[in-house]
Amino acid sequence: MLGNPISTLVFLFSVLNVAFADDSSGNFTSAPAIETKGNKFFFSNNGSQFYIKGVAYQADTANSSSTEDTIVDPLADYDTCSRDLPYLLGAQTNVVRVYALNTSLDHSKCMEAFGKAGVYVIADLSEPSESIDRDSPAWTLDLYKRYTGVVDVMANYSNVLGFFAGNEVTNNNSNTDASPFVKAAIRDTKKYIKDKGYRNIPVGYSSNDDEDTRVPMADYFACGDEDIRADFFGINMYEWCGSSTYKESGYEDRTKDFGNLSIPAFFSEYGCNAETPRKFEEVGTLYGDEMTDVWSGGIVYMYFEEANNYGLVSVDGSKVSTMSNYNNLKSQLASVSPSAAKIDSYNPSSTSLSCPATNSNWMAATALPPTPDKDVCDCLRNSLSCVLSGDVEEEDYGELYNTLCGKLDCGDISADGEKGSYGAYSFCDNSVKLSFLLNKYYESNGKSKSACSFDGSASLASSTSLASSCQTKLSSASAKASVSGSSTSSSAQSSDSSKSGSGSSNSASSGSTKKSAAGLQIKPISSAGLCIMSVAVTAVSLGMAHIMF
Ligand SMILES: *[C@@H]1O[C@H](CO)[C@@H](O)[C@H](O)[C@H]1NC(C)=O
Ligand SMILES: *[C@@H]1O[C@H](CO)[C@@H](O)[C@H](O)[C@H]1NC(C)=O
Ligand SMILES: *[C@@H]1O[C@H](CO)[C@@H](O)[C@H](O)[C@H]1NC(C)=O
Ligand SMILES: *[C@@H]1O[C@H](CO)[C@@H](O)[C@H](O)[C@H]1NC(C)=O
Ligand SMILES: *[C@@H]1O[C@H](CO)[C@@H](O)[C@H](O)[C@H]1NC(C)=O
Ligand SMILES: *[C@@H]1O[C@H](CO)[C@@H](O)[C@H](O)[C@H]1NC(C)=O
Ligand SMILES: *[C@@H]1O[C@H](CO)[C@@H](O)[C@H](O)[C@H]1NC(C)=O
Repeated sequence: MLGNPISTLVFLFSVLNVAFADDSSGNFTSAPAIETKGNKFFFSNNGSQFYIKGVAYQADTANSSSTEDTIVDPLADYDTCSRDLPYLLGAQTNVVRVYALNTSLDHSKCMEAFGKAGVYVIADLSEPSESIDRDSPAWTLDLYKRYTGVVDVMANYSNVLGFFAGNEVTNNNSNTDASPFVKAAIRDTKKYIKDKGYRNIPVGYSSNDDEDTRVPMADYFACGDEDIRADFFGINMYEWCGSSTYKESGYEDRTKDFGNLSIPAFFSEYGCNAETPRKFEEVGTLYGDEMTDVWSGGIVYMYFEEANNYGLVSVDGSKVSTMSNYNNLKSQLASVSPSAAKIDSYNPSSTSLSCPATNSNWMAATALPPTPDKDVCDCLRNSLSCVLSGDVEEEDYGELYNTLCGKLDCGDISADGEKGSYGAYSFCDNSVKLSFLLNKYYESNGKSKSACSFDGSASLASSTSLASSCQTKLSSASAKASVSGSSTSSSAQSSDSSKSGSGSSNSASSGSTKKSAAGLQIKPISSAGLCIMSVAVTAVSLGMAHIMF
């Protein structure tokens, strides 16, 4: 065949073509995709069960040389990820959790290297300055862009195990109204993956371990139709400290708590450091018969030694030094051999779950906020005669909201995850929402020029005629909004009709002096370091927390 010049050419061409196709798709990785069935993960190539032996892998921004809110993306710098990969593999790591990716950067070299080594990635979709804020929860156009942007840069790699649509957003019974926004993020991310024709990459949630909310929270995320529920549930687990037992640690109770969950559950962080060096004696139990029916392993928090004292290694430039923590984890993991199910012979005991009842610990509505739609916001903006002036500073938005919402019904731009009522324009950005309110005020005051001023904050827009497609968009958005809050298309969702006490004051009062930011890296007690990452979110959200919703 090679003697014939034409077939030689065809042959060469097809070789080049294959190489090129691999290159453009970033799919060099021979790692078979991981899929879910029931409450387990499986290798797609041979159907054998996959247990997560993970390590959280992201350095704090505090150690970055540049500005404080710059992400140190762990998968964008081949020098550092290739420096670390042998150490990760040395500790049997098959998953890394990354908390904040920079979607402008190229991840192909690290992703390929990790994929070839059989290391999978679970990526948080948020980042410190773009996450769902528990004190002022919203699922916005900006967040939708961020989330889908991460999906776009990661979807081609077969070693992406999944995405977290939120981390510890609701963290106790005072802010369960934030969870509908996270669940909407899951719904919309799943739909985006499907619409784009990407591989069916699982999208889940990472919860804190709060005694009042952990069970209803897991049920809340796992309930409902396939297209809206989480594909897995992670819980950040710090109950086993030092030497303990299955029973004493709390693991037994947690295993009972999650025994009915119909989606995979795992520790999305673990490794209490109340005693150091950490011995990681919990590893034998986590991967042992008492727990493997219910849990799919866990992710040790974390690779880098930093101020919070949770590291496995310390890093100095190109030099990595393993700590006792590392060696202990390594030898514990070396001695486990969890029993592995086969996908074909595995029959999940439950494949669906009803949504949790609402009570004083769980007040999240099952009705979810609308999918952010840029066209709706653009059309809305274009339909207004009185709009926000271009020179109003963002820091002044809060006061303007306060003033306007004192005079007008702000329902169209507000969202309430406890009542399950979501305004048609609640996902639009603040300038559009403020413009909407200014216009509403203007119209309800006889459209006099003086009604479009607010000391120069508002100005009349040059009139344009609204395209009919825009009129259709806007009326369909407000029609959808007026039905939400009663029921949704999902059968499981409608089980919430018995929800009582929707007028209770829980969510309304939140916000005035909140310190913690939602969405990222809130560690228990001693893990102060990463909280630094969340400062940006707090700063952004503080201004309007108590006004907007
Ligand atoms: C993913 O793969 C598709 C199909 O090969 C390609 O068109 C697209 O550009 C790739 N995206 C990225 C971010 O590599
Ligand atoms: C299934 O495939 C994975 C990935 O290649 C491999 O690590 C694992 O050992 C295989 N399992 C069996 C039972 O062959
Ligand atoms: C992402 O990377 C770009 C290009 O290096 C940089 O300009 C930007 O500041 C980074 N973004 C964040 C949030 O770190
Ligand atoms: C990557 O390549 C493998 C082998 O050709 C293929 O089975 C898999 O579907 C590809 N994954 C993606 C995400 O394109
Ligand atoms: C709930 O969490 C918030 C945010 O972390 C905190 O401010 C508040 O004190 C907590 N409330 C309770 C009852 O624990
Ligand atoms: C699990 O399901 C059983 C049988 O339906 C039920 O009795 C039990 O209360 C459930 N456990 C939890 C923690 O929901
Ligand atoms: C930054 O890195 C140095 C040296 O690697 C380490 O000693 C220090 O604890 C780190 N700082 C933070 C805030 O993690």
